[in-house]
Amino acid sequence: MLSSMAAQADVAHGKALVEKSCTACHTSTVYSRSDRRIKNLIGLQRQVSGCTRPAKVSWNKQDITDVVEYLNKEFYHFKK
Ligand code: HEC
Repeated sequence: MLSSMAAQADVAHGKALVEKSCTACHTSTVYSRSDRRIKNLIGLQRQVSGCTRPAKVSWNKQDITDVVEYLNKEFYHFKK
């Protein structure tokens, strides 16, 4: 990937990663439940990187950015 694009998130890639590695413990309802715990973008970033450990994946920064972007766009809708 071009370095000038490194900061750009790839939402489709994020979605693919979540569907592949993140459905063992919770489905996507956890992201949209009424009492969800995540309240802002920073919290979402923390939770995603925290959840990579039990999910047994080693994602790089770009992967995490893509997943955060996907989850935010699809479920959380936090302002940037
Ligand atoms: C080993 C089990 C496990 C796996 C695998 C897992 N999670 Fe989680 N996740 C949890 C638990 C436990 C919670 C907390 C649920 C609660 O608070 O009731 C959680 C909560 C979350 C939340 C916050 C939901 C909210 O309340 O707003 C996000 C976002 C999340 N996980 C993302 C991910 C992502 C991305 C992956 C894939 C890397 C993943 N999880 C894989 C166990 C897991």
